[in-house]
Amino acid sequence: MANIDLIFATNNANKVKEIKAVTGNHLNILSLKEAGIEIDIPEPHDTLEANASEKSRVIHAITKKNCFSEDTGLEVFALNGEPGVKSARYAGDTRDFQANIDLLLHRLSNKVNKTAQFRTVISLIWNNQEYLFEGICKGQINADQKGSEGFGYDPIFIPDGSSKRFAEMTMDEKNKFSHRKKAMQQLMSFLNTKW
Ligand code: IMP
Repeated sequence: MANIDLIFATNNANKVKEIKAVTGNHLNILSLKEAGIEIDIPEPHDTLEANASEKSRVIHAITKKNCFSEDTGLEVFALNGEPGVKSARYAGDTRDFQANIDLLLHRLSNKVNKTAQFRTVISLIWNNQEYLFEGICKGQINADQKGSEGFGYDPIFIPDGSSKRFAEMTMDEKNKFSHRKKAMQQLMSFLNTKW
């Protein structure tokens, strides 16, 4: 079985690490950096699906190669799904992780329900056709921030089935629950039918 190159349209080194940890030997994931592409891809849309599509289409237009992108949002039930698609820039364009967490905790402080979910949408462009995959991880927001692993909202998110925040987990532990892993598993199952 031949190895397959697949460009991952992201500049986020954490995401690349998490994805490479769950893909098998036959899938050779190339970050934008590894593919020699320097670009800040816009995320102008108001859904995860549209942003994921935009990113994979931009990279496919440049490279003409098979590629995928993902867009992820933290959806908090008591905040009507916020920050959702705005997760990266919730507290402003500086994309400051701590400022985003502070704003979220402030808005959630008077709410009883702390239920939330991470939702990842992957857009794969395979042989010039686009396919979408989704992965969801449900859990709770905990205002007591802990841990230094991961990124983004990881210090305040406890996935269902664990007592630890994502930021307290190794990457392998996080990948037992992760939204991104679940979406990636679907992509890999799809590719298995093509090999
Ligand atoms: P994007 O998919 O790069 O637009 O990610 C949006 C934002 O969601 C990131 O900047 C992070 O703040 C947050 N985020 C995405 N994935 C995760 C995750 O696995 N853990 C914690 N935060 C995440």
